[in-house]
Amino acid sequence: MENPYVPFPMRIEAVTVETEDENIKTFELAFMSKEEGERFVYTPGQFAEISVFGKGEAPFGMASTPTRPGRLEFSVSRIGVVTGALHQMERGDVVGVRGPLGNGYPLESFKGKNLVLIGGGFGFSTLRSLTNFMLDDSNRKDYGDLTVIYGARSPGLLLYKKDLEGWREREDLRLHLTVDKGGNGWQGHVGFVPEVTRAMAPNPEKAYAVVCGPPAMIHFTLPVLKELGFGDDRILLSLEMRMKCGIGKCGRCNVGSKYICSDGPVFSQHELSRLTGEARG
Ligand SMILES: Cc1cc2nc3c(=O)[nH]c(=O)nc-3n(C[C@H](O)[C@H](O)[C@H](O)COP(=O)(O)OP(=O)(O)OC[C@H]3O[C@@H](n4cnc5c(N)ncnc54)[C@H](O)[C@@H]3O)c2cc1C
Ligand code: FES
Repeated sequence: MENPYVPFPMRIEAVTVETEDENIKTFELAFMSKEEGERFVYTPGQFAEISVFGKGEAPFGMASTPTRPGRLEFSVSRIGVVTGALHQMERGDVVGVRGPLGNGYPLESFKGKNLVLIGGGFGFSTLRSLTNFMLDDSNRKDYGDLTVIYGARSPGLLLYKKDLEGWREREDLRLHLTVDKGGNGWQGHVGFVPEVTRAMAPNPEKAYAVVCGPPAMIHFTLPVLKELGFGDDRILLSLEMRMKCGIGKCGRCNVGSKYICSDGPVFSQHELSRLTGEARG
């Protein structure tokens, strides 16, 4: 059996600076062995541990979609040792990868349902993966209406501009972009994600809401979704708390009886309320 702590090498094929402050970059990685590429079967919402040799490793959600195999993409916000070292790396450099890890979004439960995807910050990366997965010709018929509500502090801090352009052209997806402060010909919404969610009032019938982003955004969006009629079992969240092993062994990431790394990072609000109740005792 393979050692789950040992990363396999992947080569950086491209680096895209996503934001005008250059704090978020997307790394496109290519498998160096065909077998490793074939073994890496993943679901949107899963993550991988990426190591920069000599610096350490850190978890990142897959921003790419499994419908475009052969490459993986990760969008990395520069905040500390590992992310800082990654930001120094260039095309041709090699990183280590362990994964895929975690549970990912419940794609089977989503079938036949309408989806409201609400995101901000680098948390939008796995929602980008999920959106591109559902928009793929081979999958689109399995899912109902798609609504994406995505916010950033300013237009220059929105990720995936090419994808957003493509999504805007589609008739089978409602895209609501919002920024805290507009200007420079901005034509989207101006306001925080929870306010825009309330104003757009997505219909909760036969729908799931998936929320991914900074804690404050999640905190203020949850009551809005409840107001709109989304039940706790129809609200899904992806948790990005600190972790170590990523495989349910070290006990660093538990909430109540569950490990975020192996039982999550995706949980329904219903499960989370139960788990935080357990954790409080
Ligand atoms: C499941 C999962 C998915 C993630 N996906 C992404 C992603 O797609 N893109 C991305 O940019 N980041 C993502 N993160 C967060 C990322 O793992 C951390 O930013 C990274 O571990 C920081 O490593 P570092 O060595 O650069 O920072 P460090 O040098 O270890 O820390 C720098 C500072 O950041 C704080 N910090 C570190 N990690 C976290 C954390 N997880 N939450 C809050 N504060 C923290 C530390 O306390 C310290 O103050 C994800 C985390 C998880 C658990
Ligand atoms: S990070 Fe080790 S158990 Fe989750």
